[in-house]
Amino acid sequence: MILGGVITAVVAALAVTGCAPAVSPVPSTSAAASETPVASPTPSAGPAPVATSTPTPTPTPTPTPTAAPAPAADVASAASLQVLVNKRTPLQPADYQPQLVSVSIAQDGDELVRPEADAALEQLSAAMLADIGEGVHVFSSYRSHARQSSLYDGYVAQHGQAVADTTSARPGHSEHQTGLAVDVVGTGGACRLDVCFGSTPAGRWIAEHAWEHGFIVRYPDGLQGITGYHYEPWHLRFIGAETSAAMHAQGAATYEEYLGAGAAPDYGQ
Ligand code: DAL
Ligand code: ZN
Repeated sequence: MILGGVITAVVAALAVTGCAPAVSPVPSTSAAASETPVASPTPSAGPAPVATSTPTPTPTPTPTPTAAPAPAADVASAASLQVLVNKRTPLQPADYQPQLVSVSIAQDGDELVRPEADAALEQLSAAMLADIGEGVHVFSSYRSHARQSSLYDGYVAQHGQAVADTTSARPGHSEHQTGLAVDVVGTGGACRLDVCFGSTPAGRWIAEHAWEHGFIVRYPDGLQGITGYHYEPWHLRFIGAETSAAMHAQGAATYEEYLGAGAAPDYGQ
């Protein structure tokens, strides 16, 4: 397919350009957001029965079992682990600088993430290694606003803006700027930065188990109309284990759907 060829060309360009951050991390003074579960909703008793001369007993409503309560999510603050970033919702400020640490697991060399994401990556990789004999390798992680701008401009120059917008976020709109997103492959290296990664043992394991460690596959197959991007089985976003568990229990395929945030297929211009 022509489109498939274009996507392959774009991801190949992504691989060539690399994703090393352009600036050194500057520690932030803002405290990491914590996850605070919301209390379980109290079932409503329903409308009061109408009194009659011969009242009949009204059965007490039985609460319907529900999925785990969703944690309260601060989706607006750049420092929040649950911050929503997409084409309709820019990171604020657009050049937010998170507190970062070096990625502890296998990686390309200069990969940086938020400390919470790094701890979760260690758990994720250890669990995957135990299950399938292959760990997680990170090949892209935090990107500064300047780095994202440079990458995006390169894709536009090479493929045009319409194609670039299906695979690369405009600066200020990339989850990579939060320090909570990583692009990964199995330590075996198969299908690095290629949609075929989703069909590898590593890709399949990650799609099934990432939520157990606080991550989600952020851009699922066939949901560009919601996320704004083609399938990226390699792009993981850390949202915290409570939130990812709640999203899994809800059966939501995208973060937008889980939050009820509305689709973000484009920049709305
Ligand atoms: N590839 C994702 C959409 C990004 O550029 O952040
Ligand atoms: Zn990514």
